[in-house]
Amino acid sequence: MVGFELENSRVAKRARLRVVQTPSNHLILTVENPTGFWSGSITTLKTRRPYLPGMKPRDLSDHVPYRAGRGITEVARELGLNPDDLHKLSSNENPFGPSPRAVEAIVDAAESVHTYPKAAHTDLVEALAETWALDPVQVWLTPGGDGFLDYLARAFLDSGDRVLVPEPGFAYYAMSAHYRDAGVDQYHLSKHDGFEQTAETILEAYDDHRIIYVTTPHNPSGSEMTLDEIETLTETTNEDTLVVVDEAYGEFTSNSSARQLLDERDDVAVLRTFSKAYGLAGLRLGYGLVPRAWASAYERVNTPFAVNAPACYAGLAALDDDDHVERTVETVHWARTYIRETLGAPTWESGGNFVLAEVGNAKDVTEQAQRKGTIIRDCTSFGLSECIRVSCGTKETTTRAVATLNEVLDG
Ligand SMILES: Cc1ncc(COP(=O)(O)O)c(C=O)c1O
Repeated sequence: MVGFELENSRVAKRARLRVVQTPSNHLILTVENPTGFWSGSITTLKTRRPYLPGMKPRDLSDHVPYRAGRGITEVARELGLNPDDLHKLSSNENPFGPSPRAVEAIVDAAESVHTYPKAAHTDLVEALAETWALDPVQVWLTPGGDGFLDYLARAFLDSGDRVLVPEPGFAYYAMSAHYRDAGVDQYHLSKHDGFEQTAETILEAYDDHRIIYVTTPHNPSGSEMTLDEIETLTETTNEDTLVVVDEAYGEFTSNSSARQLLDERDDVAVLRTFSKAYGLAGLRLGYGLVPRAWASAYERVNTPFAVNAPACYAGLAALDDDDHVERTVETVHWARTYIRETLGAPTWESGGNFVLAEVGNAKDVTEQAQRKGTIIRDCTSFGLSECIRVSCGTKETTTRAVATLNEVLDG
């Protein structure tokens, strides 16, 4: 494994080769010569697996753990507050809760959770196919939108492939690629250009990547990429580059969905989720819209029954509950404007159900707001230590959150 030419030298007769493994699975190879004639480190190698005996996971040192925002109960316990006095506007959840019809469907479905979720899965796929005017094989039902990212990684990435992700951006793109031992590069969305998303910005960093991830509306900035720009991107990149358009916040924008590109192209996939506008984040229900050409890969990468039956029935019911979605979307539009007009800090225009604001020391502002009952997202983990992200709440919670933040900012 290691080539070094000591065999016939005087050193080799007496030298000892020491191998020391570091916690990050680096092997440091050192030659020691007890006579002091020669001694030194030969090389440092990175192993894929721990060299020393004992059962350990493979080398995960490149994998960055996903840190979800903390829940109301955890924060309340830590601060000794009543959970009812806290408002969580940190995870872009639906402030109206789930669709009441979805709740009924979950309760009904509870009676039959002893069976595998076959029919429910088929029904929801068909309903979504109808909604999007696609063939059912073009709808990949997955455990959350995150699940769709995993399935794409399983279907498209070989070890050593490279993917291109936005920076700042959603952490799970890189994580799902790492599971497949793919390399990750970044394209930069500049704060000073309002996190503008154009084909040109992405192409500057493009080097024949296997997957490019586009988020529109973008988390955490709220910026958007128009369909024309996405089309230019797909037309300019190589044939074997897949453009994944993440529309997790798609219901909150009036821009057209990249679904339109699927009739013509086989190098685009669209991520959608029930977690945001439909208020079903806790059920883990998402899906992808994919070209007909490679749709059958789903059966080969799908974890059997990964999407559970109550989730499927809830999804079906939520799809039918126009009132709930309309109320949610209308309130988001109101809240985005309200936050931008009333918060005493610079903000960015947003197509999502949240607004990014520049507040100075985000950690400090987040902690102070939390002590006053408002939980918002410190964007340090996105590389924006001066920004917070405020999710759109109900009129009451949004007004209260902005008042609290203004108090903190004035203080
Ligand atoms: C940009 C983006 N994509 C995908 C997701 C995944 O959502 P879920 O797995 O809940 O469907 C999220 C969740 O916050 C997101 O912000």
